[in-house]
Amino acid sequence: MANERTFSILKPDATRRNITGAVNAVIEAAGLRIVGQRRIRMTREQAEKFYEVHKERPFFGELVEFMTSGPVVVQVLEGENAVAKYREVMGATNPAQAADGTIRKQFAESVGENTVHGSDSADNARLEIAQFFKDADIAA
Ligand code: RTP
Ligand code: MG
Repeated sequence: MANERTFSILKPDATRRNITGAVNAVIEAAGLRIVGQRRIRMTREQAEKFYEVHKERPFFGELVEFMTSGPVVVQVLEGENAVAKYREVMGATNPAQAADGTIRKQFAESVGENTVHGSDSADNARLEIAQFFKDADIAA
């Protein structure tokens, strides 16, 4: 697959521990380019919309609390096969199951506070990017 974009969030556990630069270094070393980046405080409404697919799951309330507990960094990443590549670089949702060298293996604290989000499909990437970025700010 050709050049592609994906959506990334450096979650509140990353900003709290001041490791956003360390995470970005892993992202860039993997060949992904950070073409959009903004530090924001997510509102409850934004977090609930963003994780809407999980609203019936038992961890939904906790997830929204966590995502609004501190600043996050929203990002657009670009590269060859960016969606799949970033999922690989992030590692498994549960850091205990994440492969060596992945972001979650190196940095995540728990299955809930797992440092990063990455889109799980190209379609979701487009929707998620549109939730947080204006087209003009991430023009090629
Ligand atoms: P993400 O959406 O954040 O990139 O993570 P993911 O695809 O690897 O995992 P997903 O199944 O989509 O879950 C979304 C986020 O919900 C939190 N979670 N907590 N306590 C739990 O059992 C649990 N399970 C999931 C995590 O923050 C996960 O990243
Ligand atoms: Mg997910």
